[in-house]
Amino acid sequence: MSHADDNAGTRRDFLYYATAGAGAVAAGAAIWPLANQMNPSADVAALSSIFVDVSSVEPGTQLTVKYLGKPVFVRRRTQDEIDAARAVALEELMDRNSENPNRPNSDASDQNRTMDEAGEWLVMIGVCTHLGCVPIGDGSGDFGGWFCPCHGSHYDTAGRIRKGPAPQNLHIPVASFEDETTLKLG
Ligand code: FES
Repeated sequence: MSHADDNAGTRRDFLYYATAGAGAVAAGAAIWPLANQMNPSADVAALSSIFVDVSSVEPGTQLTVKYLGKPVFVRRRTQDEIDAARAVALEELMDRNSENPNRPNSDASDQNRTMDEAGEWLVMIGVCTHLGCVPIGDGSGDFGGWFCPCHGSHYDTAGRIRKGPAPQNLHIPVASFEDETTLKLG
């Protein structure tokens, strides 16, 4: 990194870059892939917002980035995943709260969990709400979404807890789209 690039405050300094490989790698229980990232200087790391370039995330894959010390899943869902999540009645859910600070006090219908109306983008904190393992997001588990192998929690394609000891849906971070391909966390 050149001296000029090292000046704090440029947005580029804390952009995360999606790579073709990063989106395709499944997150394991104890280890998870970080997108390529530049090493932010200490003052940049202290900022509470980061920007994520999602332009390389293909449907059916997820990018995992680190935000405030936790993995965040940025999932681009297929139409099948969206349809499966939207076919579920609220009565079937163990946790009927959206767990989405971007839509406070909303129910856990799929529409209240996704970033966009069509439901393509689902952004969640990748920490199991039981005891904090990182769920696997390769469609494993009984509901085709995420599975936590630590004690067997099954999440559906909207990241909602459907079976197992976890008490809540996967939490959603404060997030918004800056433009079509740039996601802001925080
Ligand atoms: S930590 Fe995920 S099931 Fe226990």
